[in-house]
Amino acid sequence: YDTQPINVMISGAPASGKGTQSELIIQKYGLVHIAAGDLLRAEVAAGTENGLKAKEYMDKGKLVPNEVVVTMVKQRLSQSDAQEKGWLLDGYPRSLSQAAALEALGIRPHVFILLEVPEEILIDRVIGRRMDPVTGKIYHLKYSPPETPEIASRLTQRSDDTVDRVKLRLQTHTQNVEAVLSLYKNFIRKVDGTSSKDKVFAAIENILEDSELLSPGPMPSL
Ligand code: AP5
Repeated sequence: YDTQPINVMISGAPASGKGTQSELIIQKYGLVHIAAGDLLRAEVAAGTENGLKAKEYMDKGKLVPNEVVVTMVKQRLSQSDAQEKGWLLDGYPRSLSQAAALEALGIRPHVFILLEVPEEILIDRVIGRRMDPVTGKIYHLKYSPPETPEIASRLTQRSDDTVDRVKLRLQTHTQNVEAVLSLYKNFIRKVDGTSSKDKVFAAIENILEDSELLSPGPMPSL
C-alpha cells in the first residue's frame, strides 16, 4: 500500500468489533493502531497514577476523564511512525470535547468508520470474548475460538466484560456518540458489523480503497 498515508477513525458500540477489524486493517495497510482502551489498560497494568485513576472509571463503564486520556492519545499520535505510516484511531474520540482537542491540533481523519451492531448481539459478543495475553489477539469462545489447546489454556477475560458492566458501557456510548458523529458527519462510512469478521473486513477494504478517500468533505464548525 504505497500511496499517501491514510488516517482512519473506527468507532462503534462496545464489542462491535473495533479491535478485531483493527487487527486486520493494520495487517493489510500498515497503519499504526492507536486504541484508547488498550493504552489505558497498559497504564492500569503498569500501576501508574493515570492507570489507578483510569481503573475507577473503566470499572464503572464510564469515560475516563480527559486529563488522563487526551494527552495520552496526543502523545502517541505525534510519534513519527504514526505520522509516516498513517494511523488508525480506535475508540477515540468518544466525546465532543475529545474531538475538539483533536481539531485544535488540526488532526482529522480521511474516513470515520462506524460499525453498526444491535444490542442483543453485543452482549453475546462481550460474554464470550477472551484475550491472549501473549499475542494480544482477541478471541470469542463461539465465533472465533482459539487455534490450539495451549492458547485456550492461557486466555484471559477483561474485568469489564460482564453483563452489568457492558450495559453501563453501552449507556455511556449512547450518551456520547451522537455529538461525535455530528462533527464527523462528512467523513462517516457505516458498516454492517453483524456479518462474519471476514465479510465486515471486505466492506472496510472497499472503503479504504475508494479513490475518493483522500479528498473528504469539509468539517462542520464546532
Ligand atoms: P475499549 O477497550 O475501547 O472498549 P469498548 O469500546 O467497550 O470496545 P471493546 O474493546 O469492548 O470492543 P471492540 O469493539 O473492540 O470489539 P472486539 O473486536 O473485541 O474501552 C474500555 C474502557 O476504556 C471504556 O469503557 C472507558 O472506560 C475507557 N475508554 C476507552 N476509550 C476512551 C476514551 N476515548 N475516553 C475515555 N475513556 C475511554 O469484539 C468483541 C468480541 O466479538 C470478540 O470476542 C470478537 O472475537 C467477537 N467478534 C468481533 N467481530 C465479530 C464478528 N463479525 N462476528 C462474530 N464475532 C465477532
